[in-house]
Amino acid sequence: MKTILVTGGAGFIGSNYLNEFVPLYSGIKFINVDSLTYAGNLANVTVSALPNYVFEQVDITDAFKLENLFDTYKPEGIIHFAAESHVDKSISDPDAFIKTNIGGTNNLLRLAVKHSIIRFHQVSTDEVYGSLGEEDSAFTESSQLAPNNPYSASKAAGDLLVRSYYKTFGLDAVITRCSNNYGPNQDDTKMIPLFIKKLLAGERVPLYGDGLHVRDWLHVSDHVRAIDLVFHKGKSGEIYNVGGDNELTNIVLVNKLLKLTNRNSDAIEFVTDRKGHDRRYAIDASKIQNELGWKPVVTFEEGIADLLALSN
Ligand SMILES: NC(=O)c1ccc[n+]([C@@H]2O[C@H](COP(=O)([O-])OP(=O)(O)OC[C@H]3O[C@@H](n4cnc5c(N)ncnc54)[C@H](O)[C@@H]3O)[C@@H](O)[C@H]2O)c1
Repeated sequence: MKTILVTGGAGFIGSNYLNEFVPLYSGIKFINVDSLTYAGNLANVTVSALPNYVFEQVDITDAFKLENLFDTYKPEGIIHFAAESHVDKSISDPDAFIKTNIGGTNNLLRLAVKHSIIRFHQVSTDEVYGSLGEEDSAFTESSQLAPNNPYSASKAAGDLLVRSYYKTFGLDAVITRCSNNYGPNQDDTKMIPLFIKKLLAGERVPLYGDGLHVRDWLHVSDHVRAIDLVFHKGKSGEIYNVGGDNELTNIVLVNKLLKLTNRNSDAIEFVTDRKGHDRRYAIDASKIQNELGWKPVVTFEEGIADLLALSN
């Protein structure tokens, strides 16, 4: 492939992907298509001076402008990161999530078929599977979709549209579903960057409910390596779960952050639980490990220490 369209490349995971792979694949032109919402920041992209990188400020819900981009650049691959991604925002204002995560994804898929794209990669989330009980085994790729909030429902709908374009139009498509990411460039409305910022500023951090919700945390650099691998080597029509095998309750996570920032438990403020708050996510990533040889390399301790060093 000579040209790859990357949506949402100014956001957290998209920018980490570009910063890693634009320099590595100097023979591929990367077109970063991002509307620059509150979550997008061009300063996240540190490789913008490279000749194989282009930025276009376009909203993926604008089918007309999107088609002009396809006509101009004639991309052969699409890696689709762009999304409204904040669960709390999806509860207070679901419309933007439906528009971007479903409507925007459909625009890209339609153009991908029309322009005979070689591969479409949908970057998705483990949240589409819903919530696990304490004793349940981790989500596999064949777990049923049971999203519990407008964010995860809109991502699940996007995933199903991808499947339908694969089945109906023969579009070559892959989906990755990853657990919670942390690392550089994450918008500080999200838990880890928000908590680090507040703790370093001497403020208290809001912890939902009893703090016993469980999330699996993966460093963003491990996620973008998984995306690159699936984009280039994954089997068409397949879904690959990506996870860190690193389940932590929120309270354990916060205690680690307290220790690293020399704060004590007085800094925790327990607040009313989020509506429909999923209790536990856990990912079985054995398919991508066995079939493509991926495994996470950044330990949580290393990743968090690096992040804190960047924040200080
Ligand atoms: N953050 C996580 O822990 C996580 C985990 C698994 C999967 N994901 C998925 O990975 C993808 C990227 O997540 P993220 O955390 O980097 O999100 P983010 O919110 O940090 O970034 C999203 C980017 O998309 C852009 N964008 C939003 N709406 C757009 C639109 N209509 N048109 C063009 N650009 C638009 C934003 O400006 C921003 O740059 C999402 O699809 C998300 O569902 C995220």
